Amino acid sequence: MINLGEGLIPVGITGVGSYAPERVMTNAELEELVKTTDDWIRTRSGIRERRIAGEDTATSDMSVIAAQRALENAGLQASDIDLIVLATLSPDYPWPATACLVQERLGAHRAVAFDISAGCTGLVYGLAVGSQFIQTGMYRNVLVIGGETMSKVINWQDRSTCVLFGDGAGAVVLQPVQEGSGFLSIDLGTEGAGVELLYQPGGGSRRPASEETLARKEHYLHMNGREVFKFAVKVMEQSTLKAIEKAGLTVEDINYIIPHQANLRIIEAAAKRLKVGMDKIYVNVDKYGNTSAASIGIALDEALQEGKIKKGDNILLVGFGAGLTWGAIVLKW
Ligand code: UT7
Repeated sequence: MINLGEGLIPVGITGVGSYAPERVMTNAELEELVKTTDDWIRTRSGIRERRIAGEDTATSDMSVIAAQRALENAGLQASDIDLIVLATLSPDYPWPATACLVQERLGAHRAVAFDISAGCTGLVYGLAVGSQFIQTGMYRNVLVIGGETMSKVINWQDRSTCVLFGDGAGAVVLQPVQEGSGFLSIDLGTEGAGVELLYQPGGGSRRPASEETLARKEHYLHMNGREVFKFAVKVMEQSTLKAIEKAGLTVEDINYIIPHQANLRIIEAAAKRLKVGMDKIYVNVDKYGNTSAASIGIALDEALQEGKIKKGDNILLVGFGAGLTWGAIVLKW
């Protein structure tokens, strides 16, 4: 029944933590910045407000707090961690990895640390990567973090993107668990043909930072919203079904779904296609906007705190994002 392979060590989530900056930015404030309305933002995306990091706050700062909370939740010390995988599209520096900064700040000196780049699918990819090290027996305590300071990579003059995103971090501890619980299946996908639907054109080796790239605002996030919307609804349905099938389950067997929080309309459209009631799906995009790789970790943490997930439940995490990338994980809590 379990697709993760015979003879592998079962792996599960044993701790979750999250952090979002205190500063709340409402839609009314955005009305002052760009030509938009609270009504447009709410009806098109479901977002009412988002959190914005302070001038001196970067992705590693929020990630460290989320990680400390996840470690406490798991009953682990920083010195116990073997591996830190951090997913982000808004790193502190283009290189080296933000995970290295987090390793040092946590005092996780035994841990190997690296970043992965999978856009908003980052946490799902990170969990898939991190879990492999436990299943094969190489590591026992893995910290997977999704952290984003989207407010610093979006163009605050572009109304089609700046109203959608927010800042925050979510962290998850992975450890060996009892046979029959933890990860049941993983489905991942990539469609490189869609790179330019959602990307940062400037500042890399293709178009190195210059006065020209700055003037053209190429160092900010660029997105074709309509195309990403269609892609998102399609892959959320397909990846969910594939992961559920790989786990030997049916949609009815899934107790609760934690989707990437990009847009309420995307979540509702996918739920309709899957014939799943919205009462089985966690939504907090109204409070945080799209926090990219951080969203599933923040949503999972809040769902747990609100008692939405019980021991023995079949849980599905599903994400999509830049790359284009997507992924779904089924696990028994
Ligand atoms: O994590 C993955 C990251 N990305 C996403 O998930 C985004 C996926 N896409 C979406 O969520 C939606 O496509 C949006 C919310 C971005 C846009 O919603 P839409 O229903 O697809 O609107 P649209 O792009 O088709 O734009 C409709 C109109 C346009 O005006 P015209 O051309 O019809 O006159 C836009 O210029 O709305 C206009 N518009 C706005 N109006 C007021 C675009 N942004 C705004 C705005 N306020 N902020």
